Amino acid sequence: MKGLVIANWKMNASLEAVRVFAEKWQHLPALTNVDTVICPPGPYLQAVKSAMAVELGAQDASAHVAGAYTGEVSAEMLRELGCQWAIVGHSERRAYHGESSRAVAEKAMAVMSAGLCPVVCVGETLVDRDQGRHEEVVAEQLKASIAGVSPEPLVVAYEPVWAIGTGVTATAEQADGMHGVIRACLNQVYGSESFGIRVIYGGSVKPENAGELFVCENIDGALVGGASLEAESFWKIAQAANAGSQ
Ligand code: PGA
Repeated sequence: MKGLVIANWKMNASLEAVRVFAEKWQHLPALTNVDTVICPPGPYLQAVKSAMAVELGAQDASAHVAGAYTGEVSAEMLRELGCQWAIVGHSERRAYHGESSRAVAEKAMAVMSAGLCPVVCVGETLVDRDQGRHEEVVAEQLKASIAGVSPEPLVVAYEPVWAIGTGVTATAEQADGMHGVIRACLNQVYGSESFGIRVIYGGSVKPENAGELFVCENIDGALVGGASLEAESFWKIAQAANAGSQ
C-alpha cells in the first residue's frame, strides 16, 4: 500500500514560516511512493497551495453544508481552496470542543460528500491504557466515528492521547498491535471493502523513530504534529514512509 504522511501544523506557523518551509521543501527530492499532505491552519491554505507541490488538507471541517454556523468552515469551501483531505475527530477537538464520535462521523460524511478524504482520528487516554481497556476503547470509538461512513475514500489515524505532543511515542509493537485491532474492526464493519483503508499512526513521530514504525505491517503512514513544522524533518519522515512501503 502506498504510504501516507500528513503534517498537522495545528495552530502554528505564519506566512513567513510557510515561505521558509516552501523554500526548503523545493530543494528536497520528490518521493514517489508516499502521499505527502500538509494541513496548515485555514488562513494559510492558499499560501501553502501556491508555494509548494504537496497535497492540501484541513485540520477540521463542519458537519454542515452552509448556514448560520459562526466560525465554521464547510468541506465544500475547503474543496474550493484545493483541499483533498480533512482531519476529523482529532483528540484536541474531542477534548477542547467536546466533539463526540457521533459528531465526528457526521463530519466525515460531510467531508466525503464534498469529495475529500476524511482522516478519522481515534486514540485512548493513559488511564484507558493503564486500566487495560485501550483496545476496547479504541474499537468502540472507531465504530461510532465511522457509523454510516462509507469505506472509500477513508483513512484512520491511531493517535494515543498520551503520545501526542509529549515526546513519548508508542513503541512500534504497541502501535502495530493497535493497528491490528483497528484493521480487524474495519474488516468487521466493511468486509473486503476495508482492504484499501490506510491506517496511520500519530503521536510524537520524528525522523528518529519513523523508520521503526513504518516497517510494521499494519502501519501505513503517519500523522505528524511538532516534527512537521520544519521541512527537512517532515521530509525525513516522508522518506522513511516511502522506504517502508516499498
Ligand atoms: P505530535 O502531534 O506529532 O506533535 O505528537 C501529532 C498530532 O496530534 O497529530
